[in-house]
Order: sequence, then structure tokens, then C-alpha cells
Amino acid sequence: MKTTIRMKVVITILPALVAALSILGSTALIMSRSGMIRLAMRSLSFKSETLLQFGESQWNLLRNQNLEGDPVFVQAARDSLATYARSLLRDESEWTAALNLDGSLGFSESLGPLPLAVPPDLLELMRSGITGPIRFGSGKDACLGQAFYLEPYAWYVVVSDRETAVLKETSGLTSAITWATSASVVVAFILLVILSASISRPLTRVTAAMSAVLRTSDFSGSLKPENNDEIGELTIYFNALCSEIDRSYRRIGTIALREVEAQTQVVERDLEALAALGKVAEYRDEDTSKHTLRVGMYARVVAAHFIDDEERLSILANAAPMHDLGKIGIPDSILLKPGKLTPEEFEFMKTHTVIGHSILKEFKNPFLAMGATISLTHHERWDGAGYPRGLRGQDIPLCGRILALLDVFDALVSERPYKSAWEPDKAIELIAGERGKHFDPAVVDAFMSERSTILGILANNQ
Ligand SMILES: [Fe+2]
Ligand SMILES: [Fe+2]
Repeated sequence: MKTTIRMKVVITILPALVAALSILGSTALIMSRSGMIRLAMRSLSFKSETLLQFGESQWNLLRNQNLEGDPVFVQAARDSLATYARSLLRDESEWTAALNLDGSLGFSESLGPLPLAVPPDLLELMRSGITGPIRFGSGKDACLGQAFYLEPYAWYVVVSDRETAVLKETSGLTSAITWATSASVVVAFILLVILSASISRPLTRVTAAMSAVLRTSDFSGSLKPENNDEIGELTIYFNALCSEIDRSYRRIGTIALREVEAQTQVVERDLEALAALGKVAEYRDEDTSKHTLRVGMYARVVAAHFIDDEERLSILANAAPMHDLGKIGIPDSILLKPGKLTPEEFEFMKTHTVIGHSILKEFKNPFLAMGATISLTHHERWDGAGYPRGLRGQDIPLCGRILALLDVFDALVSERPYKSAWEPDKAIELIAGERGKHFDPAVVDAFMSERSTILGILANNQ
């Protein structure tokens, strides 16, 4: 999965922020709780000291008047201590009690409901003789207190307050800190998203522009830098790069165009040379007819039924006129003989195929290489009765099979010293009759389907 800059910024910074805020909030809460407890303990301590002084002063009064043995006065002193203890209470959560040493209550004072029983752990504390700051009870009944012994009364006195009441203010603080932390996280998240968007948006523009350039190969455009920062610099360098590539493309385009023009000129010269080569043989026995020109034109039309590639078609069409090049190696006595050739002469005549092939076969030029194959195979027959090698069917190269038909057709419809020109329909009839014998059936079919085009070429190139 792709991790965007926005995600990276958020998942890196947000947890750190949450942790920092949580630590800060917890510390503030702990400090405020201990502060509240310290304050409460001071207040309880003050009350317990006041109560102790009051109790002792009461007892001193009795003793001074020698009434410490009088149960009525002693009880009155105890009652006045309880009343005084009650007067020190300020809140319903506070509780002041005096425990007799057997665990029973001497008095129990509260502005709110009184505890149903003396908490067992308070009795434990009393039995352990612990005085000063104490803590007893559990859960929501947990209390903070100050304890002291009031010897004359044989009381263990406890001044206490509920912990929940002491920490009441901090529970408000807890929710305030929670809210503040949550709100800070939300605000921080929004700010981080905005910040990361301000970083990623210009980058996205640059990457979109790069992608468009790759798609269209158009390097001519440029991007306006949005920010004066590293991304702005990236945009400027991207523009510079595009413009440099654009300039190079144009330069290469110009060079390539010149190269193509030069190449075209070379090909044109090649083709002119090839046409001249084709005429070399033709002029020797067929005078000024346009036989080779027409054969090349027919070849393009018929070969198009078998070859899709324009370059290969062009090579075949332009090599076709060279099919009888080898005739330059046949003596005039045979080549120009007006009458019928003797079998020996005809055998010699057949060698024009091999001669043409041997003249052209060494050349790398594709036109000449194709001319060599055509030369060698244009007198082969589909049924294997041709020459020079007696090849049969598909063993004869396609160019040879095509040229075999077109050469015969054009020879039939042309006037020669030893014969007059045939009517095209008669020539076509002969060709149809040779389907599968002299000629490849597929080539005959292609020729027939192009009959009107072939006749048009014949009519326009006399
Ligand atoms: Fe020939
Ligand atoms: Fe020919």
C-alpha cells in the first residue's frame, strides 16, 4: 500500500502529541490530587489540634475544681467536647468520632448521615496505637483523617473527611483535562492534515505533470512554482529539465528528418539503378516495350494478397523487373534467333535464370537479394515441371510463383518478333487453365480477383 506524505506526517506526529498531552494531563492531575489531599490533611490537623486543646482545657477545669471523679461533670465535659466537635464540622462528608478503647463509640458527629458501623480498619489503627494522619475505609467510603488519644477521657478521637469529597474538585479537573486533550488532538490532527496537504499538493502537481509528459511526450509545457521552498525549487528544475529535453527532441527531430530525406534520396537512386538493371536484359530481346515496368506494377497488386508489410511489397515490386537479368549472359545467336530454338539452344536459354542469380546473389541490398531469388525461380512450375531446379508447390519461393504467372501473362499480351499480342481475355483463359499445373492456385485466384486492375495497368503502360 502506498504511504502518502500526509499519512506519514499524521502517524508520526499525532501519537507523539497524544503521548505528550497525556503525560502532561496525568502529571497535572496527580499534582492537583496530592495538593488537595495535603490541604485537606492540614485542615483536619488544625481541627484535631483545636479539639484536643478544648478537651484538655475542659479536663483541666474539672481537675482544678476537683470534679474529675464526679461522673455527672465528667459526662458533661464529654458532651461539651462532642458539641464542640460538631461545631467544627463544615461539610456533610466530615465525620468526627470518639472511640472507647473497647471499640464502642464515645460519640459520633456528622452533618450528614452517620456511618452505620465503625470501619474495621479504623479499629485496627486504634489498636495499633497509630495517631496523626490516617486513612481508612475503602471504595467510595474511603476517608482521610487525623487521630489522637485524649487520655483523660480514654478516647481515641478521629477527625475525618471522605476522600471523594476532598478530591471532588479534581474530578472536574480530570474531565477538563480529558476534554482539553481530546480537543487538542482533534485540532492538531486538522492542522497536520492542512500542513501535510500544503506539502503534498504542490508535489502532486509536479508528479501529475511528469506523468502527463511521459504519456504525451510533450515537453513544451511548464509549471508555475507555488511555493518559495524546496518544492518550488523542484518545480523550477522540472521546468528546466523539460525545456532541455524539448530542445534536444527538436534537434533530434530535425536531424532525423534530414536523415530520412537523405535515405529517401538513396532509395530513389537505388530504385532508378534497379529499373536500369531490369531494362539491361529487356533491351536485348524485347526492344522498347514496358514489359519490366508492367511486371513490377502487377507484382505489387498481386503480392498484396499475400504480404501485409509495405516495405516487403516495395522490395518485391522493385525487384520484379530484374527477373530476366541473366539474359545478358545468353549469346545473341540464341537470344535473338527468329525461329524455334533447338533443344540444345533451349537448354542454354534456361541458364539465364542461374546467370541472373549468380550476378545478384552476393549483394546485401535487399532489392538485389530479392532480384536474385526471382531470377532463379521465375521459370519454376507449381507441378514441378519447371526449371532450373524443378521445384514443386510451396518449395518455390512466393516471389517466384507470382513472377512466373505475371511474366507469362505479360509476354502473352505483348507483341514479340516471333508472335503477335494475344487478347487479354485469351491470356487470362490460358492462365486459368494452368491453375494448379504451371501456376500456384492461390496466385491465380489473387490474379483473377485483381483482373480489372491488371488490365488497367496493361492499358495505361503500353
Ligand atoms: Fe525468364
Ligand atoms: Fe520477362
